[in-house]
Amino acid sequence: MKKIILVGYMGVGKTTIAKLLSQKTGFKVVDTDALIEKQTELSISDIFKQKGEIHFRKLEHEVFKQLIEDKEELIISTGGGTPCYAHNHLFLNGDQVVSVYLYASIDTLFQRLKNENSERPLVAGQSEEELKEFIAKNLFDRSYFYNQATHKVMIDAKTPQEITEEILGLLH
Ligand code: S3P
Repeated sequence: MKKIILVGYMGVGKTTIAKLLSQKTGFKVVDTDALIEKQTELSISDIFKQKGEIHFRKLEHEVFKQLIEDKEELIISTGGGTPCYAHNHLFLNGDQVVSVYLYASIDTLFQRLKNENSERPLVAGQSEEELKEFIAKNLFDRSYFYNQATHKVMIDAKTPQEITEEILGLLH
């Protein structure tokens, strides 16, 4: 196995878990959003504002494909929408690839996103009521793609350390 890919909705903690997994496995960690920001020298919010979501999805696909094709052992922390566009879900079970869908209840996602949505263009500026409805609908639309992951791990009421241990148990 050369690539561990973490997928899941905004706010499930992909970046945090990827860092912990990196410490445990020694694999380098790469975050697709961080790489896009570095390459474009723009924040994700500014890319959405200045160039639009479709442009962002193209960049996201290119970056994700490059990482999958990289020869190095990597932990790839994706953006919440990565597996849901441009056939990216087809990469989730490739040769030497293991993917993990980190999933949570709508209520957990709502609690996490309501306090930290300003940096996330898809949910920025929504009222609490709008946010809850958006999460429910969007998660429903995206579930098919997330469920293509090799493994699924529920994150509700678990610490990042517990989630990391659970993932490590699945990798053997
Ligand atoms: C998005 C999630 C974000 C980021 C962009 C779009 C999405 O990443 O890629 O704002 O479509 O769910 P996080 O899941 O890290 O917030």
